[in-house]
Amino acid sequence: MTNGEKNDAASVASALKGREVVVGVTGGIAAYKTATLVSRLVQQGAGVTVIMTDAATKFITPLTLQALSGRPVYTGIWQHIESQDPQHISLARRCDLAIVAPCTMDCCARLAHGQTNDVVCLILSAIDRRQTPILLAPSMNEVMWTQPANQRNINQLREDGFEIVGPAQGWQACRAVGPGRMEEPEVLLEAVAAKFIGSSPASSDASKRR
Ligand SMILES: Cc1cc2nc3c(=O)[nH]c(=O)nc-3n(C[C@H](O)[C@H](O)[C@H](O)COP(=O)(O)O)c2cc1C
Repeated sequence: MTNGEKNDAASVASALKGREVVVGVTGGIAAYKTATLVSRLVQQGAGVTVIMTDAATKFITPLTLQALSGRPVYTGIWQHIESQDPQHISLARRCDLAIVAPCTMDCCARLAHGQTNDVVCLILSAIDRRQTPILLAPSMNEVMWTQPANQRNINQLREDGFEIVGPAQGWQACRAVGPGRMEEPEVLLEAVAAKFIGSSPASSDASKRR
């Protein structure tokens, strides 16, 4: 199956079971929808670790995402939940896929320029995209989305091997209609599952399973 095809519920579930997924959340209004994405991933048997920028915590609490993922949530680069290794290295090594949803215009800019001064960009910077996919789900006002600087950054991110999912068209929180809405959680879940269909968790690097 290809990424563009609709996958049935059973194949999504079997694709996600036993996968380690990092979910990055940045400071966009669509962050509330990420709770549904995290819950669905967990329900399908994926292990989910949530990482959040400071701005993201203004939109949805780490506690909500901790409860839904059943794991501690990373909210800062100086926080050491795991002591054996710097967290940005250990998390990056063991994940099978990372997705940032929503991904703000600012986060797109930081990633396009290789900046690592927040926990989401730092952890993503330590993921080898040749082996581990990183999906970005941009979410912003339509004018922000179409800004030349943003479009340059999106093109650069694609060229650098990030996969851009969406954005969708439609109603926006700023009471406008246009491109820039984050894709719905079910669409994001399918995009994640599509990366795993045809491979088993056991076939991924054993060193990731700790
Ligand atoms: C109410 C409100 C809603 C916002 N929604 C968005 C949004 O949907 N997309 C976006 O790119 N920025 C949005 N922003 C701006 C970001 O929160 C801001 O650029 C922030 O610095 C992003 O930080 P981060 O990328 O580190 O999470 C919003 C700001 C506010 C105050």
